[in-house]
Amino acid sequence: MRTSSSVGALLASHTQRNVAIRTRREDHLGRFRHKPTSRERSLLGFVPVDSQKPRAEPGHPPLEALAVQPLLNRDYESRPAVFYERLRAEYGPVAPVDVLGVPAWLVIGYSQTLDILRDTRGIWSRRVDAWRAYREGAVPADWPMLPVVESGNSGFRDGADSTRLRAAWSEGLRPFQDRSRTEAKALERAVRQYADELITVLAESSGRTGWADLSAQYARPLPLMVIGRLLGDGADGDDELIIDLWRVMDAGPDAQEASDRLTARVAGVCAARVDKPGADLPSYMLAAAPDLTADELTREMAMMTGLVGDVTGTLICNTITEVLIGETGARDSLSAGMIQEAINRATAANPPMANLAFRWAKADVRVGRFQIAAGDPVLVSPAAAHLDPAFTRTSAPDSIYSSRAHLAWGAGPHACLGRDLATTVTTIAVERLFERFSALRLALPADQLPWRSSPLMRGLRSLPVTFELAAGPPEPPARPAPADEEPEREAPPEDEPNSLARRVLRMMRL
Ligand code: HEM
Repeated sequence: MRTSSSVGALLASHTQRNVAIRTRREDHLGRFRHKPTSRERSLLGFVPVDSQKPRAEPGHPPLEALAVQPLLNRDYESRPAVFYERLRAEYGPVAPVDVLGVPAWLVIGYSQTLDILRDTRGIWSRRVDAWRAYREGAVPADWPMLPVVESGNSGFRDGADSTRLRAAWSEGLRPFQDRSRTEAKALERAVRQYADELITVLAESSGRTGWADLSAQYARPLPLMVIGRLLGDGADGDDELIIDLWRVMDAGPDAQEASDRLTARVAGVCAARVDKPGADLPSYMLAAAPDLTADELTREMAMMTGLVGDVTGTLICNTITEVLIGETGARDSLSAGMIQEAINRATAANPPMANLAFRWAKADVRVGRFQIAAGDPVLVSPAAAHLDPAFTRTSAPDSIYSSRAHLAWGAGPHACLGRDLATTVTTIAVERLFERFSALRLALPADQLPWRSSPLMRGLRSLPVTFELAAGPPEPPARPAPADEEPEREAPPEDEPNSLARRVLRMMRL
């Protein structure tokens, strides 16, 4: 399994522009796959949507021969409810779609999505070699999602392999997710401090009122600093690592080199932890699963950088957005002091992982109106499932509490293990922001917000706002540590010209 550029591999799922386009690529057996011919491309689904091919009946042609709807389109980005409703009306709970040139089944029904995630019958594989077209060398070598599905991290493992890695994750994350633990308390203090520093810097140039992009200046840099902390000594405060993460996420022209450097750095950190463990996530994972190799650990940490840096940053941004738009109850929840409820509403309305990176059928199986053949790729869509009337009619619109039955954190054997960490970081980020500003308003009409174009992620490219700072100094960022906690690192004052937040923002040229 290839390990190079695995950091980019994960982030590439969220930011396609940074994908290295390769014309030749080795397959998992080390053979070079060729660029598909036009016939192969048509077999892969380059079929005009308006063709007369059948849409949905028993005995229908195979996926490769069906008319497919392009997944990425204007409605999918800016009016997803309209897009999913159209698909539902035309196809029912599962629809054949084109994902950047490759045909796949998009599962949009709530009960079908839940059923696939739970996988009680053992039908679904996460291993890329379960993909028929991939085994046959028919996936275009430059398909932008190839690095994601080939990344070999725990998201793309099955059975005992997956169980072993998930056990390492659970144990490794425990010190950071169990709020009674020293590491969790220290992390919360750090997040609070990063948040306050970012807000101070953001407000500094304009006085009490001004304009900001809360995605670039707040929601995205904040979790990047958390990554450094999770990786531990050496990575914590490593400006270059953080800025390379930003370059990869920002998907600019230097993204591929940044991704390579980042992979090398993460690999270096993991190798160092094998030799000399510390009080950090890779070391705790190693303690839980001593047979983890440095390569495996590197792949998992690469995945972590995407989950914290991009996905958690997206949740922060989406929550702020929902509060500012005020249509899904997130604002009312926040006003009532229920931040986690606001986050839950935002997560259900716009799941950061709108669609979950592929699963493949191990056997022929009927879903909705279609027969999914063994080896077919399937994307389950929490975003679409949350709009399914079967789900929406279960929650009263005026209820104080929103449904906890949403699927934004997955479900079943691959359900998210970092939910508490992501929720804690988001809670602190949202809390500090709305405490420090007395007024925050969208600087664009809600229907003009620029959503990213991604087959997997639902997040904004930028979140322009106007703001007014609350009167008075911010509360102290952290309470003093009780005696039994690790000695507090000396927090630099917020106007410290060389704080991590300032260095990061300077390097981002923000
Ligand atoms: C807002 C942030 C996050 C969201 C919305 C989220 C969501 C998800 C979802 C939907 C899955 C299931 C994927 C699937 O079934 O295909 C998942 C799996 C997972 N997540 Fe998260 N996640 C977030 C943050 C994190 C963080 C911060 C970590 C750890 C640092 C983490 C660790 C994991 C792990 C280890 C898995 C299991 C992979 C597997 O067994 O297949 N997640 N997450």
